[in-house]
Amino acid sequence: MQTKRTALITGASSGLGVEYAKLFAADQHDVVLVARSEDKLRALAAELEQQGVRAHVYPADLSRAEAPRELFDALTRDGIRVDVLVNNAGLGYVSTFHASELRSELEMVQVNVTALTALTHLFLPGMVQQRYGRVLNIASTAAFQAGPGMSVYFATKAYVVSFSEGIAHELRGTGVTVTAHCPGATHTGFAAVAGAGDTLLFKGAVASADATARHGYLALRRGRTLSIHGLLNRLLYWGGLLTPRWLLTRITARMMK
Ligand SMILES: NC(=O)c1ccc[n+]([C@@H]2O[C@H](COP(=O)([O-])OP(=O)(O)OC[C@H]3O[C@@H](n4cnc5c(N)ncnc54)[C@H](OP(=O)(O)O)[C@@H]3O)[C@@H](O)[C@H]2O)c1
Repeated sequence: MQTKRTALITGASSGLGVEYAKLFAADQHDVVLVARSEDKLRALAAELEQQGVRAHVYPADLSRAEAPRELFDALTRDGIRVDVLVNNAGLGYVSTFHASELRSELEMVQVNVTALTALTHLFLPGMVQQRYGRVLNIASTAAFQAGPGMSVYFATKAYVVSFSEGIAHELRGTGVTVTAHCPGATHTGFAAVAGAGDTLLFKGAVASADATARHGYLALRRGRTLSIHGLLNRLLYWGGLLTPRWLLTRITARMMK
């Protein structure tokens, strides 16, 4: 019998996902931890269970098209109801598009966009039926302009914001909220995986994973639709709305050098 609310967190083996799992466990939610690195998930689960919550480990490779359905079916079979879905798993890839590996670009789209969409579609009906649910989609400040040198990544995050805002509106009055959280550059495994560590973006002010996740967590608790972490990032967002898109693209291209 499930007595506590349960939060499913994708990408819970590293960076922001670990922080989200800790925040939900500290708030007495059971957690479902998803990523490919099973050993890291098991170590985190053992740590979180010391707080009196249940931490379930479901290893999954979300770049496989079947993975979201398999995960949903496994949880249904095991009788685990998901009240909060945190679509956090994601990756970037620095390269000019024409010189990039198509396989890597498409894998990124699969994880950042397709799996996030599929998981949301699978878990939302149960939330609407019980008239309670929270979805936290991790986007990025990359969502608000084109990103030469990382064009596909920036486009995936624009999708996440647009998709989240659209369904958040559809779900008004249902008891289910959807939040798109937009971190700026943050200390996690992201820059190393993306090959972005030497860019100007990651040489500037880089936030801690703990502070970034906490901001997204509060936005989810408040049912905010869009949350942008950091005063500077919010100023850049507002400034960007008044800036011609061609100029924004040029400025971003410099940041990606
Ligand atoms: N760090 C930043 O500067 C920054 C800024 C804006 C937005 N974000 C976004 O924040 C989210 C979290 O990233 P992070 O910064 O915490 O980076 P991270 O430390 O590299 O963590 C990424 C997580 O995604 C998981 N993941 C990657 N590919 C996967 C796959 N095929 N299947 C399942 N899980 C997969 C990884 O787990 P496994 O490798 O174990 O599978 C890992 O747990 C991402 O959506 C990212 O785009 C990050």
